[in-house]
Amino acid sequence: MRYSCPQTVQPRPSTHESPGNGDLMRAQAWQWEGLLHISQNRVAVLLLAGGQGTRLGVTYPKGMYDVGLPSHKTLFQLQAERILKLQQLAEKCHGNRCTIPWYIMTSGRTMRSTEEFFAKHRYFGLQKENVVFFQQGMLPAMSFDGKILLEEKSKVSMAPDGNGGLYRALAAWDIVGDMERRGVGCVHVYCVDNILVRVADPRFIGFCVQQGADCCAKVVEKTNPTEPVGVVCRVDGVYQVVEYSEISLATAQRRSPDGRLLFNAGNIANHFFTVPFLRDIVNDLSLLPSVHEPQLQHHVAQKKIPYVDSQGQLIEPDKPNGIKMEKFVFDIFQFAKKFVVYEVLREDEFSPLKNADSQNGKDNPTTARHALMSLHHCWVLNAGGHFIDENGCRLPAIPRTAAHGQPEAVTAGVVDNLKDASDNPIQCEVSPLSSYAGEGLESLVANREFHAPLIIDEHGAHELVKNGL
Ligand code: UTP
Repeated sequence: MRYSCPQTVQPRPSTHESPGNGDLMRAQAWQWEGLLHISQNRVAVLLLAGGQGTRLGVTYPKGMYDVGLPSHKTLFQLQAERILKLQQLAEKCHGNRCTIPWYIMTSGRTMRSTEEFFAKHRYFGLQKENVVFFQQGMLPAMSFDGKILLEEKSKVSMAPDGNGGLYRALAAWDIVGDMERRGVGCVHVYCVDNILVRVADPRFIGFCVQQGADCCAKVVEKTNPTEPVGVVCRVDGVYQVVEYSEISLATAQRRSPDGRLLFNAGNIANHFFTVPFLRDIVNDLSLLPSVHEPQLQHHVAQKKIPYVDSQGQLIEPDKPNGIKMEKFVFDIFQFAKKFVVYEVLREDEFSPLKNADSQNGKDNPTTARHALMSLHHCWVLNAGGHFIDENGCRLPAIPRTAAHGQPEAVTAGVVDNLKDASDNPIQCEVSPLSSYAGEGLESLVANREFHAPLIIDEHGAHELVKNGL
């Protein structure tokens, strides 16, 4: 479907927070509220990790990918450590030991290897019983002309049914029941491939709770009309994500009087749902006829699908050769009673891993690695640390837009070489076990000078070259 009629598509949801209009007091109040909910064991995280990662082109689940950080931590490990740190922060703030259960949706393609990976790494320090794996459904994949593809001579090629397969999977595995038994009240749902994801972001949780929302989308500002991200907007009065392929170029290019894109609430697949809202959706899906199911339509995704030809030869296509039918996680926004949007800065929270480096595009291991190191460089600067070059000269910092709760922020980079700074950031990595979002680094870095590469972990700040690592 293509949307272009301005009468039916409206850009701005009613409640929309953004970094520009947030003030420190409000941000701190949301943070306090979010940490309170976490400390009372009322918050869970849910990871969508059933995708096949065909563009990245690895044979194992994307969460096991190492983008080449100095620590060589995988995406799964970074997320696990952020959960561990957040549990500590909530305890420190509110005095209760707490647990953030982690629900991990896999598919027939990723279940076994994901479970084995977590077991091998002892759940990265989390309690095994608080990491709950479940599996989404599969559907047959087809060629562009609608023919079933074969994976082996007598086996139909099956593909996971999209991240919106979540809702059927929640019902099939009684996951909402598990949340209710644990007393969980709300869930942060996110995708495995965003290296900067703030799992169970307390500020986001606190904002949603204070708004009384049952459903919320975290977004970043879309600045380029042709950027391939969906936008959150209202279609015929209900909230939806309209995919970039479903909106006409003319509509995507419309601008408001301040020059910003009119449809600029870029979806980054970071959602808040209350458990009662998920319960309603799941209950409805088990009814015949269901009220919601007909409105959860399948989307067509063009993918590279390996298949056997009539001679039984396995063909591995190098470009999309067929379609998979997928549901999307955001398709339930339309059923929310109170839907709100929370905007964050892209450089703080969003850098997805989609493609291989060899494809020379964006959203690849190099861009993900650089995004994380640039952010962590900023954290060190904001905490009063300095970087010096091989001659001992300080590398100056560049002021940047203030984010929620950060009245004076600086960005990583060298003043007269901004482009090079983002292309080749200073190598700096802060372990999530040391800091969840840049907090608590002052005692480690303030008024100190460092040569890159720098690693900050639970044992302190280490210059890798000096230490010969
Ligand atoms: P993508 O749409 O980027 O798909 O998934 P993908 O499978 O990771 O990669 P490509 O398109 O094959 O290259 C976005 C998020 O949704 C999850 C993915 O694991 C990722 O976290 N996802 C996707 C599922 O959980 N299930 C699916 O069926 C598809």
